Amino acid sequence: MNKEEVMEILSTIRYPGYSKSLTDFKVVKSVEVKDGMVELILNLGTTDDKKRRIVYDEIREKFGEKEMKVNISTVQEKGTTVEQKHYVPSAKKRIAVLSAKGGVGKSTFSVALSIALRQRKHTVGLFDADVHGPDVPRMLGIREPARSDKEKNKIIPNEKNGIYSMSLGYVVDPETPVIWKGAMVTKAIVELLQFTDWPEMDYFVVDLPPGTGDAALTINQNMDLDGAIIITTPNKLAIADAARAVSYYNQLGTKIIGFVENSGYFLCNECGKRSYPFGKTDPIEIETQFKVPCIGVLPFEPKVEETSDEGNLFSVVDTEFFKVMDSIAEKIENS
Ligand SMILES: Nc1ncnc2c1ncn2[C@@H]1O[C@H](COP(=O)(O)OP(=O)(O)O)[C@@H](O)[C@H]1O
Ligand SMILES: [Mg+2]
Repeated sequence: MNKEEVMEILSTIRYPGYSKSLTDFKVVKSVEVKDGMVELILNLGTTDDKKRRIVYDEIREKFGEKEMKVNISTVQEKGTTVEQKHYVPSAKKRIAVLSAKGGVGKSTFSVALSIALRQRKHTVGLFDADVHGPDVPRMLGIREPARSDKEKNKIIPNEKNGIYSMSLGYVVDPETPVIWKGAMVTKAIVELLQFTDWPEMDYFVVDLPPGTGDAALTINQNMDLDGAIIITTPNKLAIADAARAVSYYNQLGTKIIGFVENSGYFLCNECGKRSYPFGKTDPIEIETQFKVPCIGVLPFEPKVEETSDEGNLFSVVDTEFFKVMDSIAEKIENS
């Protein structure tokens, strides 16, 4: 067995409580193979003995299958631990929603996805990472600021129809314009994530601002993302832009669950015919170009436009739009 084979095995072992592996988290500091014996030094960066034991046991088991003995030691390096760097471990799956451009329906999709997952009996958290234009409170129809738990030094997420949400819009006065710049964006997002008292959740959806800027990177660096969804419209320029979002996540090594074409068609109420007021593309062609599956084509739905701005999307779950959303939620369950 050589070092590469050792790393290969370690890459199949998950860090306890996370979807990422020991190699993803770069906890392997040194590997030596001598006389049928593997010597490992790990920087587990955890003070939790139970987690350490889980990791040790799993390593011994995996190498035992190959009839190799392992000698493991850990060093505790200074700096942030895996736990400190990866917020919201109380969610089973964390999903980021990104688009290259604004106004393609990212926030609408994030809220609708939360509703669709909720309808499939999951507990859902929705995080608004758009500090420049936090739209989640309005789209959920929540006007109350978030309450805080002084004893725990935590902010309590707002809850409506079983969806827990947090947004800068709950914390700062929406009437007071704040100009957020790079480092401030990062700090605001990290603090919102860190100080929110998140409950146990099946899914955690992150609504990102458009583009691959500070917010997207901050989310990537501070959260163990299980996958990303890219939203685009059926317009050539929008698709060319979406390609950049795809290569961004490919570079970061984040799994892309798929892309969604929003406003892909319009369904006439009277004749039931489809028309394509926002352009027409071939999702298969885009799949081939992006090497990412298309997980849904959403119709332009006037009822969605009306109700999303009033925070009343819950009232239109019987539409074709939500039928497609349900199939997207199902694909996410199976991703
Ligand atoms: N499929 C759709 N049908 C009808 N209106 C939509 C649809 N998707 C988005 N919209 C509307 O388009 C506008 C922009 O959507 P939004 O979700 O705010 O975009 P983004 O978050 O990408 O900037 C909103 O007014 C929303 O109601
Ligand atoms: Mg938005």
